[in-house]
Amino acid sequence: MAFTIAIDGPAAAGKGTISQAVAAHFDFAHLDTGLLYRAVGKRMLDGMGPLEAAQTLTASDLEAEGLRTPDVAQAASYVAAIPEVRAALVDFQRAFARRDGGAVLDGRDIGTVICPEAEAKLFVTASAEVRARRRYDELVKAGVTTDYETVLNQTHERDHRDSTRQDAPLRPADDAVILDTSKLDIEAAISAAVAAVNSMR
Ligand code: CDP
Ligand code: CDP
Repeated sequence: MAFTIAIDGPAAAGKGTISQAVAAHFDFAHLDTGLLYRAVGKRMLDGMGPLEAAQTLTASDLEAEGLRTPDVAQAASYVAAIPEVRAALVDFQRAFARRDGGAVLDGRDIGTVICPEAEAKLFVTASAEVRARRRYDELVKAGVTTDYETVLNQTHERDHRDSTRQDAPLRPADDAVILDTSKLDIEAAISAAVAAVNSMR
């Protein structure tokens, strides 16, 4: 039987970490849809047109090196504002969402556009400062040279672009449970997410 858990929210709110844990808890499959846009953005930076990049995307593109860099994140949010790029990625996401055995998808528009009929919807958020701090710590750990102010600016810029675009802007679905992780550590955030999903089952 299909059961879709939609997890949306802004950059570095904890969507990916929470989604993986929720998927493991319920034994569901997990798709990080940000990776699709990052892979298209990476191909664009490598010289391909964004629409062609989206239309010819394959599983191996999702395993490319360097998808987690700030440059690729900015490119992802640029290509994600192109309606034809978004349209090219819809069928794959919907088929994944409705697979037998249950699925968790995390992104920006899962509960609003990709799976408005999802059985459970969460909107994971946190203050821009907390999110920038988390992303900064991650980048430093990965050996990237940057500073907190730069990461905070990139976070604000991406939040702005993602929430003001015409097509599928970042916003909570009307029936989403809002989970603010600003003051929650990972374990507490995961427990709250599992409890919220159970309350919607
Ligand atoms: O997927 P998204 O960009 O929303 O965030 P993530 O990759 O799951 O989390 C970004 C970083 O914040 C990771 O290093 C998490 O370990 C960390 N995090 C945290 O410190 N506290 C939370 N409650 C959630 C995430
Ligand atoms: O991990 P983080 O939250 O920083 O970013 P991501 O989830 O990997 O997404 C990268 C970019 O892809 C976002 O800034 C969005 O512009 C775009 N995206 C989108 O438009 N719709 C989705 N369902 C997922 C990502």
